[in-house]
Amino acid sequence: MSTPLKILFLASEADPFVKVGGLGDVAGSLPNAILELGADLDVRLVIPFHSAIRADNFDLHRETVFTIPREGGEAPVQVFHTELRGMPVYLISGDPFSRATKVYDTDSAVDGEKFVFFSLAALELARRLDWRPDIVHANDWHTATALYGVRRMQDDPFWKGVKTLFSVHNLCYMGAGSEAALTAYGLPPVNDPELPWWGQHTPMPLGLWSADEIVAVSPSYAEEIQTPEYGCGLETFLHSRHDRVTGIVNGIDTTSWDPRTDEALIEPFSSEHLSGRAATKELLQTNFGLEVNNSVPLLAMVTRMDQQKGVDIALDALRLIPKLNWQAILLGSGNSEIEATARRLESDFPHRVCTIIRYDGKLSRQIYGGADMLLMPSRYEPCGLAQMIAMRYGAVPVARATGGLRDTIAEGYSGFLFTDASPAVMAGALRRALKAFGLHRTWQEMQKAGMSGDYSWFVSARQYADLYKTLIHNSSQE
Ligand code: GLC
Repeated sequence: MSTPLKILFLASEADPFVKVGGLGDVAGSLPNAILELGADLDVRLVIPFHSAIRADNFDLHRETVFTIPREGGEAPVQVFHTELRGMPVYLISGDPFSRATKVYDTDSAVDGEKFVFFSLAALELARRLDWRPDIVHANDWHTATALYGVRRMQDDPFWKGVKTLFSVHNLCYMGAGSEAALTAYGLPPVNDPELPWWGQHTPMPLGLWSADEIVAVSPSYAEEIQTPEYGCGLETFLHSRHDRVTGIVNGIDTTSWDPRTDEALIEPFSSEHLSGRAATKELLQTNFGLEVNNSVPLLAMVTRMDQQKGVDIALDALRLIPKLNWQAILLGSGNSEIEATARRLESDFPHRVCTIIRYDGKLSRQIYGGADMLLMPSRYEPCGLAQMIAMRYGAVPVARATGGLRDTIAEGYSGFLFTDASPAVMAGALRRALKAFGLHRTWQEMQKAGMSGDYSWFVSARQYADLYKTLIHNSSQE
């Protein structure tokens, strides 16, 4: 038997240990999905031991302690070990994490220190375990520094020839503010005019610069980040590396997200029994003071309230169609100005709109399973998970044709797409969707089209596994 390929998978969060956003869903599912392919791969996940991780919920064992060099001394590292469905998981602790209260801090220098420390400690852990990875797979800016570390250590026999892969979940967050931490941990700016000057000492661009392969979380996003509109100043650099930029759409956890077994729903349902959705819709209408009537289309947003998600675009679009028959539920929290605008829509349309400012897992499940449409007018959306959940639950997405939304929703078949990030253009898509809702057969066919899609991790895991193998194969031919 050949020895399995060893993959060191690094992320700043992973469900069920800690989850703030979509990255946590991905890092909590993808490594296991890759392992489950049984394709001769040995994947190990490393995440920070954030204070938000409830240690007593997991069977943690102390693995090792060591130090890594830091300006003026040594930084102590403690590593704990556990397993997630048979896969080894390591949690890294140390002063920057014991001091921190939040997973992500508003002070960028605090996060810079945390994640530069984490990235370098994770590399040193591999050496301590005498487990030389074939590939280091990093995700977003928090772990990008590890790839720069590997690149800089190519004279070290342990790291020589180790390949690197970088998944980009959100290019805009680059880790600016980490400059002092990079210097403190002995990482100088890279002296390469290919990168803009500010990128020469910022984790995200350093990771992109170092990576042998760059994966954006959808094929459309892979193209978009090479353009000025989405490239956040790195478009020229990314375009110059286009031969190593690909796109792989994320999956969702189809066991957890299953309308046939979801206990949050009043009545389970499937595409053969769509009428089961009505009970949950009725619950939503009753609980949120909306007219209880199955024939009024219920529109919903489940979202972080921030600029990226385009909540303002949806709110203004709804204001443009006051005469049409619709109700809306808005669930989410985030930016206080956007929250206030969402509340204002409720006060202007009291019996038609309900705004709920919080994160609520159970309610979000009821919304996916009871609302008729999910609105996602994102200004940019690298992949997006909510539209896939909505389609699996028979809620038809009305979304902006960008990134993963464009790649997972088929216009007029499983959802409605619009191009410009403008309320007027979105209102046009809403008009089309509301008209289709009135045509019972058409609507059911769209629901069924969405529900029959394969959103499992299997397909994406296969693509990642193939990419790992290509990377190794190409390097053995060099
Ligand atoms: C980020 C992106 C989102 C993506 C997620 C997981 O949160 O904004 O589009 O689905 O990462 O890749």
